Amino acid sequence: MSPAPLLLPKYLMLLGYGTRREVEPMFAFGRVTSADGATLRETDTLATSPHDLIRVDGQPLDAPPGSVFLLHKPAGLVCSTSDAAPLVYDLLPPRLRLRSPVVAPVGRLDKDTTGLLLLTDDGPLLHRLTSPKSHLPKRYRATLASPLQGHEAARLAEGTLLLDGERTPLRPAIFEPLGEREAALTISEGRYHQVRRMFAAVGNHVVALHREAMGPITLGSLAEGAWRLLSDDEREQLDEAVRVARAAQR
Ligand code: URA
Repeated sequence: MSPAPLLLPKYLMLLGYGTRREVEPMFAFGRVTSADGATLRETDTLATSPHDLIRVDGQPLDAPPGSVFLLHKPAGLVCSTSDAAPLVYDLLPPRLRLRSPVVAPVGRLDKDTTGLLLLTDDGPLLHRLTSPKSHLPKRYRATLASPLQGHEAARLAEGTLLLDGERTPLRPAIFEPLGEREAALTISEGRYHQVRRMFAAVGNHVVALHREAMGPITLGSLAEGAWRLLSDDEREQLDEAVRVARAAQR
């Protein structure tokens, strides 16, 4: 039996437009229309009025469920839905945080870390990307307190480095010196404060950290504080990179 078609009030509720009590009057007051201006009714469904043709107060809907957002995170914002501190959500359309399922960060960046952050309400994709089995490479650029010593690349590539308080050694990482106190580090895990702790383990201290890439996805010319949707092409590339990274571990 095919599932019942999704009624528009329910759809708007899932997209964070409000509770049932808030959404239903939007129909009664004619605020929900089709692209050609015809008033939509509570009994209309997504099957007859597809996402791209719905307007609320004349505006297109937010991105459809299952989207991936790319944010250039500035320092000072927290990757959480609930913290009292300024949040990465402060830079995104407010409804994304009210969606069901919520648009969640794909892993976390520390409050002081800048750079590439993906967020999605695509549950299976979120799981594939954040699973410990994922091993998708993530590239960071670190500014360091002390000059590089020359031993870092070999030490971090060994696959034997143990972080304080942990029992499992880190997977090999790719280290690339970029200046006297500047380096890129590509890791394929997501442990707590991992990059900062890795530099501490080789006798240095990170003063600034920026994520440049997750697999094939980079910030390109996206300005700090700005966001955009990933294109279908980028999503395919990301999926492929996750598949390849997983397969390489088998
Ligand atoms: N590693 C860190 O130490 N911090 C981050 O924000 C990301 C990776």
